[in-house]
Amino acid sequence: MSKTDTDSRSDTQTESQPLVDHTVEGETSEEIRDEWTNYDFDGEAKLSVSELNVYYGDDHALKDIDMEIPEQSVTALIGPSGCGKSTYLRCLNRMNDRIKAARIEGNVEFEGKNIYDADANLVELRKRIGMVFQSPNPFPKSIRDNISYGPRKHGDIDTGLLARVLGRDDGEREERLVERSLKQAALWDEVNDRLGDNALGLSGGQQQRLCIARCLATDPEVILMDEPASALDPIATSKIEDLIEELSEEYTVVVVTHNMQQAQRISDQTAVFLTGGELVEYDDTEKIFSDPESQRVEDYITGKFG
Ligand SMILES: Nc1ncnc2c1ncn2[C@@H]1O[C@H](COP(=O)(O)OP(=O)(O)OP(=O)(O)O)[C@@H](O)[C@H]1O
Ligand SMILES: [Mg+2]
Repeated sequence: MSKTDTDSRSDTQTESQPLVDHTVEGETSEEIRDEWTNYDFDGEAKLSVSELNVYYGDDHALKDIDMEIPEQSVTALIGPSGCGKSTYLRCLNRMNDRIKAARIEGNVEFEGKNIYDADANLVELRKRIGMVFQSPNPFPKSIRDNISYGPRKHGDIDTGLLARVLGRDDGEREERLVERSLKQAALWDEVNDRLGDNALGLSGGQQQRLCIARCLATDPEVILMDEPASALDPIATSKIEDLIEELSEEYTVVVVTHNMQQAQRISDQTAVFLTGGELVEYDDTEKIFSDPESQRVEDYITGKFG
């Protein structure tokens, strides 16, 4: 399809406006949106989002989002500040439940089951769909304890005194898990001689990789990352980018980024949200950045607004 909104450019450039109502071909905005956001991909969907709406009080932050996220790949979420990327990401493992003002409607299917069903087990859900935040947030504990905290909480490791008295010393398992997770997060070589040190003594880039290792330690299937490299220098950023690409061989990664080059480097498909909480276009990353359908998306990725 050619750029159907070409003739409506002047109507569509301000970010506060909704999608065009009609195009030169006479389609309604809803039909266009469905076409631009209906992403055809090979393989299975890991998460299927349908009719998702989020409100913060009267503020309608996400509008009617339908989106399937392919497994074992990297999906980038881009868009101007305030368009709802973090809100959307938090919907995928019910982190928004923790925000009192947030009201969520719609479905997020994870392996065939709606995670918003009343009987969903949130602890289990967040173990399988882990999250890494924008600023590294290690616990003020040792590097080792940061990794083993989650598995211990889930009862996968038991290294306490009582457990030892009962003959259940899983210390060796813990060491293996710590090593595996830190290696997966490309941090092992830098910290293996100081696992007992406080994690807050690590550099920002190391702390972020530790948070990724902590997330991996609970064996998630999906990893949600909200601007994981925005606070890091170019070298640390490139380590995180390499890591994300590697992780996608085994995990389903969904990553928010403001960095267009980063989205192009690391993601397989890109979803563009625009102001007003709309998903405007979703397609192969190469297509989004080389030949987007929407003029507003083109303006955004070429830096004309946002
Ligand atoms: N906890 C909250 N309470 C009330 N409103 C909120 C809350 N979190 C987000 N919002 C509102 O929802 C909208 C989307 O915010 P969100 O943080 O999802 O945007 P974003 O795309 O992640 O932006 P950024 O790129 O700046 O991180 C904004 O209008 C914001 O003010
Ligand atoms: Mg955000």
